[in-house]
Parts: sequence; structure tokens; C-alpha cells
Amino acid sequence: MSKKILITGGAGFIGSHVIRLFVNKYPDYTIVNLDALTYAGNLENLKDVEEKSNYRFVKANILDASLLEQIFNEYQITDVIHLAAESHVDRSILSPLDFVYTNIIGTVNLLNTAKKFWSGNMEGHLFYHISTDEVFGSLGDTGFFTETTAYDPRSPYSASKASSDHFVRAYHETYHLPTIVSNCSNNYGPNHFPEKLIPLFIHNILEKKPLPVYGDGLYTRDWLYVKDHARAIDTIFHQGKAGETYNIGGFNEWKNIDLVKLLCALMDEKLGRVKGESEQLITYVKDRPGHDRRYAIDASKINKQFGWEPSVTFEEGLSETIDWYLKNTEWLQHVTSGAYQHYYESMYGNR
Ligand code: NAD
Ligand code: TYD
Repeated sequence: MSKKILITGGAGFIGSHVIRLFVNKYPDYTIVNLDALTYAGNLENLKDVEEKSNYRFVKANILDASLLEQIFNEYQITDVIHLAAESHVDRSILSPLDFVYTNIIGTVNLLNTAKKFWSGNMEGHLFYHISTDEVFGSLGDTGFFTETTAYDPRSPYSASKASSDHFVRAYHETYHLPTIVSNCSNNYGPNHFPEKLIPLFIHNILEKKPLPVYGDGLYTRDWLYVKDHARAIDTIFHQGKAGETYNIGGFNEWKNIDLVKLLCALMDEKLGRVKGESEQLITYVKDRPGHDRRYAIDASKINKQFGWEPSVTFEEGLSETIDWYLKNTEWLQHVTSGAYQHYYESMYGNR
């Protein structure tokens, strides 16, 4: 049976890379991209695949349960890869309910639709939920998150993702819906909306604007190139076992300040600026409330079971990412106009 996969959030950062990979690699599958096109959704991310015969786009909100049912019927959906979400921690601190609606209620709507639509025979179907390492909370100086680490979310964003993960698991246990959850570390790469650390700082370095480092800058994240996350999703979708959960990470921890200095150095070189010029833009600002100190993923399960590992080093991935932003200034201009200006003002304007 040829698969008809509903990918939600496909116009966003990670979703667009997953769509591109699946549309090009699996010409026999039909890939249906469902996206509400919020501020983070951008069809410009998918220009190169929009004419492909196995690709469809549907503008829809996962909060609209009856529309979801229509879409499942129209496209005879066999599988779901669920990425649609509100995804930015700082926005979740400003407006937690948006995260409750999309991340929790939207996910339950999708689960209900899949359960109803596949109820005759669950076999051969999969509901694959894409989640984050942030559900595990904050680590001290040592240790890693494994698949059995207890959930301990500390921001409205991670609390909403943790809740959605629990619902996905509950639907597996209670209704035997074939589900998989994967929890990934911080992604970076092309098409990343410039509210997150790396694209925001690339944008600000280009514009010679201050680089707002939160708190003491010694917070640690584990960075993975977005195309490697998409490859991991492909692997888990095809080889993962229903009811299981998989951690995905870059084996690549960086303290924010060290990462920012590396970014500044790479950009000075690429822009032909004097060595050390961009570092002058670093500005320490008030810390994020409830800021998680350290994330680090133990991704040995997917490495051992499926042989997955990151394909690029951080320096290679970061260099490719900067090159993409330097080439795609029009994309950057489009996403940083309008509502973005207002968000930027309210986040950083009075610091
Ligand atoms: P993103 O914010 O770039 O994209 C989210 C997409 O979802 C956008 O296209 C948006 O329009 C769409 N969307 C939002 N609300 C919707 C709704 N109610 N109905 C339909 N579509 C809606 O996010 P991202 O960084 O690409 O993250 C994708 C997924 O991966 C999320 O579930 C996120 O929690 C998870 N994740 C992200 C990271 C990361 O570093 N970015 C790491 C691990 C996991
Ligand atoms: P972010 O990209 O928002 O991802 P997350 O909070 O999901 O890990 O932030 C990455 C790290 O960078 C995090 O420790 C917060 C920090 N940060 C700053 O110091 N300044 C900024 O302007 C932003 C957006 C993030």
C-alpha cells in the first residue's frame, strides 16, 4: 500500500526539511502538508517542492477537528508525522494559553481523528509525534537525558509539549493507536525563524545590532543540524517500533557564549570584517525566567538500533547555515518585516 502521510507544521523550520526529504526520496508516497501558516509558517520554505506531483498543501488549523476529519477522508491518510506546534520558549512565557491550545488540544484533536479514521484496522498505520528534549527539564554539569529520564518540564512551552507526549502515549496504551514519540535537542540550519538564538544572532550580526545574551551566557544546549534531524525522523518513521520513544541529539554541547563567539568569528571571516568586530556586539541582558541551565541528549538508542548519527560537524553545519542566510537575504527581509518588528520591540526594545 502506498503511504499517504499527513505532515503537520510542514511550512515551519523543521517541517519544511522533513517535507523536502520525504517528497524527493519517496515519489510513491503522497505527502500532505497541513499548516495554519502562523507567523512561523512560510511557504517560501517549500518553493522547490510545491510543483511535485506527490505533494499537496492544505491550510488548516489543528484546532479545527471537523476539518481534520475532512482532510483524513479526502486524502485517505495512512500515517501522521506531527510537527505543528507553538515552538518558542520566550513566546510561551508571554502567552502560555496559545501553547495549551495548539500543542495540547491540537494534538488531542489529531489523535482523535487518527483513532477514528483507523479504528477498523490500526495495523500498518503510524502516528509519529515530534517532541523536544526540553520535557526532561534542566541538567546539572553532568549527565544526559535518556529515554527513561522522568519528565520535569519547567517552561510553559515544555509543559505543553510534555502534556502532548503524555496524551500520545496514553492513546497507545488505552486505544492501541500505533504511536511513536521522538525527543530531539536544539536544531539549527536554513529556514530557522530569527527569534531563536542562532538565526536571530546571524541577523543581528548582519545588521550590526546588539547580540542579547541572556544571564551569564553559560547555559548549555546540544545542537543538531536540522537536516540530520530530518534524516533521524525518516529512519524512525520507517524502522521505529510502535509504543517506543527515541531520543535524538547532536552529541554536541555548547555554552551559549562560546557558540556566539564562534558564530561571530565565522561571520567576520565570511563578511570580510576585521577579526573580533562582531564580538563587540555581544550584550548581556536580563535572564529568561525559569531558564533551563543545561540540556544534553544521550542518543545512543537510535545509534545502536538503526546506526543513525549526525552527518556533519557543528562547524560545517554552522558554516552552511550562515552561507544560506547570506544568500537568502530576501527570505530574511520577508520574515523580519511586519509583526516580527513588533515582537522584537517587545522582547528586546527596552533592555
Ligand atoms: P516552527 O515554529 O518553525 O514551525 C511550527 C509550524 O507549525 C509552523 O509552520 C506553524 O505555522 C505551524 N502551526 C502552528 N500552530 C498551528 C496550528 N494550530 N495548526 C496548524 N499548524 C500550526 O517550529 P519548529 O522549530 O520547526 O518545530 C517543529 C516541531 O519540532 C515542534 O513540535 C517542536 O516542538 C519540535 N522540536 C523543535 C526543536 C527546535 O530546535 N526547533 C527541537 C526539538 C523538537
Ligand atoms: P532558543 O534558541 O530560544 O532555544 P531554547 O530556549 O528552546 O533552547 O535559545 C537557546 C539558548 O540561547 C537558550 O539558553 C536561551 C539563549 N538565548 C539568548 O541568550 N538570547 C536570545 O536572544 C535568545 C533567543 C536565546
